[in-house]
Amino acid sequence: MTIKQPASREHFLQKPGFSTRAIHAGQEPEPATGAVNVPIYASSTYVQEEIGKHKGYEYSRVSNPTRDRLEANLAALEGGISAKVFASGMAAINAVASMLNAGDHIVAGHNLYGGTPRLFNQVLANFGLTFTYVDTSDVAAVERSIQKNTRLVFLETPTNPLMELCDLRAISELSHCHGAEVVVDNTFMSPYFQRPIEFGANMVIHSTTKFLNGHSDGLGGVVVCTKPEQAEKLAFLQKAAGAILSPFECWLILRGVKTLAVRMLQHDSNGRKVANYLASHKKVQKVFYPGLPSHPQHELAKRQMSGFGSMIAFETGSLANANAMLRKVRVCSLAESLGGVETLISHPATMTHAALGEEGRRRIGITDGMVRLSVGIEDVDDILADLDQALAAI
Ligand SMILES: Cc1ncc(COP(=O)(O)O)c(C=O)c1O
Repeated sequence: MTIKQPASREHFLQKPGFSTRAIHAGQEPEPATGAVNVPIYASSTYVQEEIGKHKGYEYSRVSNPTRDRLEANLAALEGGISAKVFASGMAAINAVASMLNAGDHIVAGHNLYGGTPRLFNQVLANFGLTFTYVDTSDVAAVERSIQKNTRLVFLETPTNPLMELCDLRAISELSHCHGAEVVVDNTFMSPYFQRPIEFGANMVIHSTTKFLNGHSDGLGGVVVCTKPEQAEKLAFLQKAAGAILSPFECWLILRGVKTLAVRMLQHDSNGRKVANYLASHKKVQKVFYPGLPSHPQHELAKRQMSGFGSMIAFETGSLANANAMLRKVRVCSLAESLGGVETLISHPATMTHAALGEEGRRRIGITDGMVRLSVGIEDVDDILADLDQALAAI
């Protein structure tokens, strides 16, 4: 009688689910010692046996084993063929733009994280790239703004902080018809709730600083791509421009990503409760959250996202009202950033979107009374009680 061999680890990993990929993709036990966690390879250089003969690593700006493992993991989560990580989300966006040439045109959402138009207008425009900003929740407006030299359509969905959505499938289809590629900043949703490549996007970027890391303890950025030539160009940019992510930061993200699914589920559950609470509060004039049936694109949200997440903006009516409540919060921390386990509350007009200027903010509807929440995974009753006492100050 032959004893049936247990199925190999490879067998189980042929069609793994999201959490299995988050925990195992790129994170195979380390062969030399069996360590179940990817080691931090703190080495700038690697010994070579003879000229040109080495184990695949020469110098850590070019490649590093901890970084390779993180890149394999993030590519598996977004469904891309490859991923390249950079020193921050902005460095990742800069790398994508650096794939273009002077004279190329980018169509970009009019409501992006404030640092993105700052990079585009104040840095990259000096090198001959041109930009048109458009309301990307309006598919026809996106098509109208495409020119002969448009190479990229750059989207955020939901947008920061107005929570407008872009129809990923429709925009990908029309952009491809015009020969342009679609890049999506998926930072707000994480690959757990939204995978733009499945809707036709060509590249996805994240500020890994946010939900992917999840613990507000390290900056980073990633570009996930769908074609070998994109991966080659991005690897070249890592080597040539050098804005790479350190092995320690890579390790932090690898550790954070293992709990992405459970964290996102709790973020989403808390986010829905907080949004409902705010929507029924007398002093809150408007709530921006795609999970509310009152959100104008609630149906699209249900089609292209599998959860609504925990990013919420709301209108307090004035700068004085916003400040009165922000001074009072105790469980929520008044701080820039988002996506950590702790609830962060911020004021877009003076923080994330200060660089847009008053006129730029007015044009797209970011008011001085707007407050943004990144709802964390604390006990939701404590978050609600904190918001309740803070809103009483208005
Ligand atoms: C949506 C979005 N994209 C990109 C960035 C830039 O990322 P980083 O701060 O890691 O450079 C941010 C930062 O807040 C962001 O919110």
